[in-house]
Amino acid sequence: MRIDKLLANSGYGTRKEVKQLLKKGVVCVEGVPVKDGKTHVEPTNQSVTVHGEEVHYREFIYLMMNKPQGVISATEDTRDETVIDLLEIEDAVFEPFPIGRLDKDTEGFLLISNDGKLAHQLLSPKKHVPKTYIATVRGEVTEADVERFKVGVTLDDGYVTKPAVLVIKESGPISQIELTITEGKFHQVKRMFEAVGKKVTYLKRISMGPLALDETLELGEYRELTDEEIELLTSLY
Ligand code: URA
Repeated sequence: MRIDKLLANSGYGTRKEVKQLLKKGVVCVEGVPVKDGKTHVEPTNQSVTVHGEEVHYREFIYLMMNKPQGVISATEDTRDETVIDLLEIEDAVFEPFPIGRLDKDTEGFLLISNDGKLAHQLLSPKKHVPKTYIATVRGEVTEADVERFKVGVTLDDGYVTKPAVLVIKESGPISQIELTITEGKFHQVKRMFEAVGKKVTYLKRISMGPLALDETLELGEYRELTDEEIELLTSLY
């Protein structure tokens, strides 16, 4: 990979700052000063130093965000703010992307990474990765709905959903529920409730696969996954 990208990914600043660093002649590959940002290095085989200190190369970044409403799950958009816009530059330089989508008005757990292989696994319909949501629903959610979600409901386009686990937390004209689904059709939770004549008015994802949302994260905040969390994810999927 290019040395300027390696240094930016390793926390040595933006591409522009890295360029200055290179210009100063303080960056060495195998002990030889390198000034051209385009220079190709193999970070796993070659020693790269800055001011004599070894650069520890890291390829992937794994972030857990508590997505707020009003931002979209994309890397760029001409109109709306994206979840990537909420990242610090030192994380954005890894060029991560959201793994899966939450609607603009949905909050909660969003995994953001540049690990394409993991993304592929987690999003594969074959893997049945469970995703749990809490929601406020207009209308009385009943045991009949629990049963219907268990066998599958027919969405507006004729698709029959896979078995889902619906837990009623509060039932009344406005109900509170928790729902676990193992697929990710467009607007799935909202459309499942529409299929039983009810409307989701608030939606938050609280877990994905083995990971639960870190409740200490305020809306819009994020943190890196711990080594244990990464291990859990990558070993399962
Ligand atoms: N289901 C929805 O309807 N919206 C989301 O954002 C996620 C799941």
